[in-house]
Amino acid sequence: MSVIIAPSLLAANWKNIEVELESIKSADWLHLDVMDGAFVPPITFGPKLVEAAKECTSLLLDVHLMIENPDRQIEAFAKAGAEMITVHLETCKHLHRTIQIIKAFGVKAGVALNPATPLSTISDIVKDLDLLLIMSVNPGWGGQQFISSSLEKISEARRLINKLGIKCLIEVDGGVDSKTASSCIKAGADVLVAGTAIFSQKDRQAAIKSLRQE
Ligand code: DX5
Ligand code: ZN
Repeated sequence: MSVIIAPSLLAANWKNIEVELESIKSADWLHLDVMDGAFVPPITFGPKLVEAAKECTSLLLDVHLMIENPDRQIEAFAKAGAEMITVHLETCKHLHRTIQIIKAFGVKAGVALNPATPLSTISDIVKDLDLLLIMSVNPGWGGQQFISSSLEKISEARRLINKLGIKCLIEVDGGVDSKTASSCIKAGADVLVAGTAIFSQKDRQAAIKSLRQE
């Protein structure tokens, strides 16, 4: 399977989201970073923007919730058109229940791990997941440097998922560019999120292509 590219809207020019989304239509997913000013310092956007993005793109909407108490927001994002909702393990007291809530809305469910959170924390739930998001920066901002120790976590996740024979995708988010992309793919990543590496380039199609390592 070839790698899935998920540009992060965070790095786009929000003055003209419709044009920005048109420029990345050769990608696969659209990654939407929701931040609440509590779990992470910045505040970004809510379901209204997801709904607007849905009208401008046919890419799969991949919503990354960096928010406290995600359970009470899942319905709104599902109704806004999210097709994948990822919550942070660090924000969930009852992660199994949260995953069930996401699935009950007919949405695929993901769990994100901060760089300091070990992979062993999801071993009892990984079979229930559609996606495991390995953060390769500390969440909150785009444009940060890739933390190289994430590669070991990606390889470890790959081994676990292969051993269990399950379909859970491995997504990597933070500091992914044409250089770090190849190491992530080699380590076993299925989905690469990239904000700066795509939207800082004039030629978005070429940027997406170089992340695919084509
Ligand atoms: C960080 C976000 C990322 C961010 C990635 O908290 O989860 O999705 O947009 O940005 P880059 O690709 O610029 O590191
Ligand atoms: Zn993200």
